[in-house]
Amino acid sequence: MGAGYVGLPLAQVFAEAGIPVVLVETSPEKVARVERGESYIRDVQSSDLKRLVEAGSIEITSDYDALKEAEAILIALQTPLSAQREPDLSIVLGAVEDIAPRLQKGQLVVLESTTYPGTTRERLLPVLERSGLKAGEDFYLAFSPERVDPGREDWTTKNTPKIVGGITPACTERAVELYRRAIDTVHPVSSPEAAELTKLLENIFRSVNIALVNELAQLCDRMRIDVWEVVGAAATKPFGFMSFQPGPGLGGHCMPIDPFYLTWKAREYDFYTEFIELAGKVNENMPWWCLGKITRALNAEEKALKGSKVQIVGVAYKANIDDTRESPALKLIELLQEEGADVSYHDAFVAELPEHGLSSTELDPAGSDCVVIVTTHTGIDYDDLVERAPLVVDLRNATGHNGASNRKVWKL
Ligand SMILES: NC(=O)c1ccc[n+]([C@@H]2O[C@H](COP(=O)([O-])OP(=O)(O)OC[C@H]3O[C@@H](n4cnc5c(N)ncnc54)[C@H](O)[C@@H]3O)[C@@H](O)[C@H]2O)c1
Repeated sequence: MGAGYVGLPLAQVFAEAGIPVVLVETSPEKVARVERGESYIRDVQSSDLKRLVEAGSIEITSDYDALKEAEAILIALQTPLSAQREPDLSIVLGAVEDIAPRLQKGQLVVLESTTYPGTTRERLLPVLERSGLKAGEDFYLAFSPERVDPGREDWTTKNTPKIVGGITPACTERAVELYRRAIDTVHPVSSPEAAELTKLLENIFRSVNIALVNELAQLCDRMRIDVWEVVGAAATKPFGFMSFQPGPGLGGHCMPIDPFYLTWKAREYDFYTEFIELAGKVNENMPWWCLGKITRALNAEEKALKGSKVQIVGVAYKANIDDTRESPALKLIELLQEEGADVSYHDAFVAELPEHGLSSTELDPAGSDCVVIVTTHTGIDYDDLVERAPLVVDLRNATGHNGASNRKVWKL
């Protein structure tokens, strides 16, 4: 269920393993595109999708009755935060309400969406058992987090180990058996709660470590030390150090959101997840801090931010993908626009930002007062960009040592 960033690659992995897949998807546009064998997810090649659709190995429908025929139902639906930054499970729970009346004896249901520990047992199980079927006996229920890193080629859905935790040992066994047919390594854990928390730990680990280097970057700015040089030097230690890069803030559907699922749940246990909150505070503040840096850089050229032509290079939340969800570039554009800057952007992967009234323009370093490098897609000649731009604010160290020795380049 859900033919998105998680669901479509997962469908491909199962189909390639010889297990026929029916995608259940509510977006008519996505249904039409999959039917034509046209992929909208970079990790899935259209040629592969077309081959699998034509062979009948992948079908797509918006008809929930298709669920009745399935051996297993894997739920890969969105788990966003509400405006008040609380878990919003309405999409997943709405879908589970639709599964319950169609649930068949012997079926396996697995939640793949990232969520807080307890979701599978406390929220899914009671709804599914309303069918009159009992988990572990009549049907099987488990949690198995998706760990895909979009755009990554070395670690994919197929070769990244899969964590599985079932409501009962029989549920775990059944889910492990399914995933082993398509995924190289399956790692069972003792409960859905352990599997749910495993996924959150992975994302919180990254969020906290990125916040640490982001804080250090701000101190380095005051101390006139190049944070990139320090991180690079520390990374030469073969043990006990893992390198994380500073940047303009967290992006994507996972890292800015998932940790707060745990924060919310922890309150039920009178517990405050302070590392998560602190990391969120530092990372969420980065676009404002970057705005300050751009303002200072222009000031040094005796220019005000208001009215200055600022070109943002790269708006996707990370390199070589087209996903702009929660991208810090969007926040930075909003802040620059609020201050009256004349903002344009260049991103070969993202043609339009309709909510900001912008379309990608040609890279124009010479025609800008300041070029801000936010996301470093490959294919851009940064030496040439520095050569032609009057002023560069480099939030990713794309200009490397050139930048360090060049007075018109301001690095994060
Ligand atoms: N994107 C990632 O890199 C990533 C990585 C690991 C985990 N996750 C987690 O996986 C989950 C799914 O994320 P995603 O990025 O694939 O989301 P997505 O928005 O790309 O995909 C969800 C799909 O479900 C469809 N949909 C919505 N409601 C539906 C319904 N009731 N029935 C059928 N289809 C419906 C949507 O149209 C969409 O195509 C989230 O919990 C996310 O946190 C995402």
